[in-house]
Amino acid sequence: MSVYPIILAQTKFTHRDSLTYPYEERGLQFGDGVYEVIRIYNGAFYLLNEHVDRLYRSAEAVKIEITSTKEELTNLLIDLLVRNDMTTDGKLYLQITRGSAPRDHVFPVDVPANMYAYITDAPRNTTNLENGVSVITERDVRWEYCYIKSLNLLPNVLAKQTAKEKGSYEAILHKDGFVTECSSSNVYLVKDGEIYTHPATTKILHGCVRMRIEQFARDLSIPFNEEGFSVEDIALADELFLSSSTSEITPIVKVDNQQIADGKPGKITKQLQEAYVEDAAIKERSMEH
Ligand code: PDD
Repeated sequence: MSVYPIILAQTKFTHRDSLTYPYEERGLQFGDGVYEVIRIYNGAFYLLNEHVDRLYRSAEAVKIEITSTKEELTNLLIDLLVRNDMTTDGKLYLQITRGSAPRDHVFPVDVPANMYAYITDAPRNTTNLENGVSVITERDVRWEYCYIKSLNLLPNVLAKQTAKEKGSYEAILHKDGFVTECSSSNVYLVKDGEIYTHPATTKILHGCVRMRIEQFARDLSIPFNEEGFSVEDIALADELFLSSSTSEITPIVKVDNQQIADGKPGKITKQLQEAYVEDAAIKERSMEH
């Protein structure tokens, strides 16, 4: 199934076919906005508060005013699931732009932000989760503020497309050989029983799943080092994995056609996957919202 029929437009619910925007819209013309992708399992959100918090942080960083409170928006998003009788695994996409106004780089005055949100089905990719994926490495040519979940995704889109054309699932991005994250996920290396990942600075998106992984590692007494690694370190890794709301915790078994360790998902990666399934209550969760 594609998009569920009821969508959220500003703070009202409407049919998906009734939403249109003028061509002078700042998201369209400048990528002048921020967004979130939120996972849904069995009709209920996972990490909803974390995503809403990050949305407000992103909006504040680019000086877009969200007129609803966090609580109001959270309730609207939950209501969106209810109104669509959502009961399956899916995802929500939400974006907020600086609004509709005659094209001018300068912010428009007294123009309300444009917001919409919709949901789609998104079955878990059990093949990738069980077998792992291959990835490539690409130069990270993005701006300095990658902690903002901005609509400007052209470098990410280009890197992901290159990965696809090379038969890979993702692109690990690096600045001068120093790994930051992937085109649409965070990335981790395991060596001698410890996890390494780029620190949560302005150079990466502070993933909601990443935040949970840090907690899972703590619970499992696995050292979680916010210490980056280089492209060269990858060849010597015991395990490698990536995380995002849509990919969950996906093992990486090949990088630039070179196998990682024995080419199978690693032990620590699997432990974290189990912790994720339990945390998201994927097996037990029924229709609670
Ligand atoms: N991507 N890094 C980047 C660049 C991302 O785009 C994402 C998410 C992540 C992981 O964040 P989280 O764990 O909060 O999903 C890291 C989403 C899913 C997307 O744009 O489709």
